[in-house]
Amino acid sequence: FESGVLAGVSVVITAGPTREAIDPVRYITNHSSGKMGYALAEAARDAGARVTLISGPVTLQPPERVKLVRVNSALDMLQAAESELEHCEIFIASAAVADYRPATVAEQKMKKSGDEMSIELVKNPDIVATVAAHTPHPFTVGFAAETQDVEHYARGKLASKNLDMIVANDVSRKDIGFNSDNNAATVYWPEGQQTFDTMNKHLLARELVAILASRFSAN
Ligand code: C5P
Repeated sequence: FESGVLAGVSVVITAGPTREAIDPVRYITNHSSGKMGYALAEAARDAGARVTLISGPVTLQPPERVKLVRVNSALDMLQAAESELEHCEIFIASAAVADYRPATVAEQKMKKSGDEMSIELVKNPDIVATVAAHTPHPFTVGFAAETQDVEHYARGKLASKNLDMIVANDVSRKDIGFNSDNNAATVYWPEGQQTFDTMNKHLLARELVAILASRFSAN
């Protein structure tokens, strides 16, 4: 992209997994590496944006010249996102937020007893949908990891979450996605779409920033 396409624009990005506590020593999480979100933070920064990266626990190096807000749970991530909203012009939700969390967090380490146990889970709030439900709301970009009917499900989420753009990828492909350094994606917005073939996540992040900058300024 041309440098400066996002000059002075405030961008907030969620990245990585969330961790949902069961007790003081245990949690539920997922395999998200945070690579795509961190690459987007660097690409947006290089395009001139003021970037806040709200990150779940990952092992990546914090990007330079980016404000990093570290969180653990989905509830913490939502609170961090809402407190950044006042100045946010573009919100990008790349985090793999846990859909459910334990209904209660045990205060003490849970002891083993019977051969079976169960943990009651309750639904987490949808962070990107909550952001997009604000009036006014930032230009809001979501991700959709799908294993089938990618366009159908991605366009469904674009509409149901009130997003301006969605980046969809096929996670049934073994060569790309989640923990990989590479990714391929199709970007959908209400009036169009564009496909990017498999490439390094840093290159893809730059392509995504270029297209979102052009959609953002057309808005
Ligand atoms: O509905 P699904 O989880 O597939 O939607 C994925 C998109 O929604 C991603 O952009 C993800 O960051 C966002 N999301 C969220 N909060 C949730 C669940 C998903 O922001 N609780």
